[in-house]
Amino acid sequence: MEENEVNYKELIINALEAREKAYCPYSNFKVGAAVLFEDGKIYTGSNIENASFGGTNCAERTAIFKGVHEGNREIKAVAVVGDTNAYTYPCGICRQVIAEFVVDKNVPIIIIKNENDYIVKTFEEILPGVFSKKDLKG
Ligand code: THU
Repeated sequence: MEENEVNYKELIINALEAREKAYCPYSNFKVGAAVLFEDGKIYTGSNIENASFGGTNCAERTAIFKGVHEGNREIKAVAVVGDTNAYTYPCGICRQVIAEFVVDKNVPIIIIKNENDYIVKTFEEILPGVFSKKDLKG
């Protein structure tokens, strides 16, 4: 999707704001995400950690689950920002969860360093050869 169809700046600002809500006492690594769905709304999320580390939920999945719970099934864009002077890409688990709902393989994944410095990849670029519902029988 081109920038004229998706407002990258709005997603970036939402992801940066969401990052401040992170609950990350173990890693102290705040992550924020903003996901645009087919209802036209941006759902935001942050990472939510747990003393049992495996119970941690990433920012991207927090945002995706909020949107899906509200009835959405089609992701149009994803933005993510970490907490270092580097580009934070979605982890492997989040890429697979994004795969479940991306409207097509060209969905933009906006990987943010700061408000003025970001990279845009297509979903296919960050997860080629995806296994998804199309591969299941029935
Ligand atoms: N984290 C995310 O929220 N998203 C990612 O894509 C990468 C990792 C979080 C999980 C954990 O709370 C912290 O970053 C350190 O791994």
